[in-house]
Amino acid sequence: MSAQELIDTARAMVAGAKGLLAMDESNPTCNKRFAKLGIPQTEEARRAYRELIVTTPALGECISGAILYDETIRQQKKDGTPFAKAIRDAGIIPGIKVDTGAKDMAGHLGEKVTEGLDGLRERLAEYSHMGARFAKWRAVIAIGDGIPSRGCIEANAQALARYAALCQEAGLVPVVEPEVLMDGGHTLERCREVTEEVLRTAFNQLYTQRVMLEGMILKPNMVLPGLTCPRQDAVDEVADATVKCLLRAVPAAVPGIAFLSGGQPAELASARLNAMNARFKSRLPWALAFSFARAIQQPALEIWRGEETNVPAAQQALLHRARCNQAARRGEYTATMEKT
Ligand code: G3H
Repeated sequence: MSAQELIDTARAMVAGAKGLLAMDESNPTCNKRFAKLGIPQTEEARRAYRELIVTTPALGECISGAILYDETIRQQKKDGTPFAKAIRDAGIIPGIKVDTGAKDMAGHLGEKVTEGLDGLRERLAEYSHMGARFAKWRAVIAIGDGIPSRGCIEANAQALARYAALCQEAGLVPVVEPEVLMDGGHTLERCREVTEEVLRTAFNQLYTQRVMLEGMILKPNMVLPGLTCPRQDAVDEVADATVKCLLRAVPAAVPGIAFLSGGQPAELASARLNAMNARFKSRLPWALAFSFARAIQQPALEIWRGEETNVPAAQQALLHRARCNQAARRGEYTATMEKT
């Protein structure tokens, strides 16, 4: 694939006020979410749930790309249609999570480094053959006493950049996801400092590894106070801190920034994205979009609960969240949308 094709795909992923739907939970993560709702933790239940998602009517009107997991990209609808094809037929670009998870980092108590570079060139070729046009790799950075360390930030940044370079070689757009976690009692300002350092380090490495910035998407956290921080800042303060941080650290050549939701309540994630676009959109060099998993899927999963008869209502809830986030991209989301 040529450089221009990578650029075109990256632009299409953030075009038209659409965003990405992350449905790439690993089996253990998916099972954990199923267990909480009493849904059987089987391959067939995971398949049925992913079929519910990809067959949601009109999903392609607000979702540009869907991130699959290794098990899911090999699965089919009941009628035998592979999920990657069903997604393409819905006007959605198929993508794939390619890291193999965040593992404890040697010598760095409480910190993780993401693995998955071994054999990645061959796996990317296979996924591309199966129809994927972009990929995702998630690094996790925790904030706590004395962490994150420089060693953890650098190791994760280098892995992200090596992954991104391999993706572009294979003709896949890399979604680069350095996630600063919400867990902890840290302030918004501390999250801003850490996120800025993490992003600056990631972009240094992306430059060093010769990644074409025009052919990638950044998937960062929003800048938020820790979950147990006594001060929970207002939506506009979060929007201001997030945009200020991104303007300092993300080169203008990047076509789009698609936020993860990180466990925020779904409505709050929409409100915060909306505030960023309403306040700053006309002055930003990149599109501000979404790449949510829980903040799009959770209400639908809670309705479905593994029951076939709940599928239409769950699909409606999924589409509703996707539409709310599309409105947030335009800066047109309001709380009254939640009542309709
Ligand atoms: O890697 C994480 C997912 O792609 C985003 O999930 O929106 O639930 O944080 P989340």
